[in-house]
Amino acid sequence: MRIVWLTDIHLNGVADAVTDDLLATVTARRPAAVLVGGDIAEAPDVREYLLRIAAGLDCPVYFVLGNHDYYFGSVQQVRQEIYRLCQGHPQLTYLTYAEPVRLSAGYALVGHDGWADGRCGDYDNSRVVMSDHRFIRELAGTEPEARLSLLQELAGEAADHVRRVLPQALEYAQEVLLLTHVPPFREACWHEGNIADDQWAPHFSSQVMGETILEIMRSRPTQRLTVLCGHTHSSGEFAPIPNVRVLTGAAEYGRPDICRVLTLS
Ligand SMILES: [Fe+2]
Ligand SMILES: [Fe+2]
Repeated sequence: MRIVWLTDIHLNGVADAVTDDLLATVTARRPAAVLVGGDIAEAPDVREYLLRIAAGLDCPVYFVLGNHDYYFGSVQQVRQEIYRLCQGHPQLTYLTYAEPVRLSAGYALVGHDGWADGRCGDYDNSRVVMSDHRFIRELAGTEPEARLSLLQELAGEAADHVRRVLPQALEYAQEVLLLTHVPPFREACWHEGNIADDQWAPHFSSQVMGETILEIMRSRPTQRLTVLCGHTHSSGEFAPIPNVRVLTGAAEYGRPDICRVLTLS
């Protein structure tokens, strides 16, 4: 079973012909399913791009949203809009609101957008100014302390979802794929071959998601989890414990491409 994984494709920043080329390249790999790991476009047009992706592919599309998908909109509104879209569109599954998906014998898929929770690195002294804090309605105009609680609330929601669906998937699957936008470990926050420093780590990683994953997988050493994440636009691999591997996907603005083709045996 072949699965194509895309992440951080930022389609609102490219010409329609580039999107068409990407979809044709994906189709040529004849995947059984396509995973899209967030940062698809922005709030005003993410729905339209999801419909284009579905129309250009002839297999199920499983996706999560990234921080950019909420720009010029609100997290709650976009999530509701995309949830409703998927209710009427069987080809599209928004994993943030989905139960585990059985991919093939022994394999299952779960996912959630995730959110950077400011716990890794040095949030208080970080000089990094994320555009999220201007362009996402819930975060715009908030003071650093109030913003941190909001970020941690969003990240906590994601971890709670995984705490519920991952054990369900592990009831029948030997290996689970977890699709999320934000790296769940600081060591998975790659940037040009290096790990994010104290300035960037608070905005690039979700510690609560990492802790949740470890808690679940440590008690199931004979089963495996592969986390597929993005957000940092640089590739790397990290294994916090022997049965968990985290793949971070590379991406380049303006040049959306296949991140990886996974073969499930
Ligand atoms: Fe991105
Ligand atoms: Fe992102």
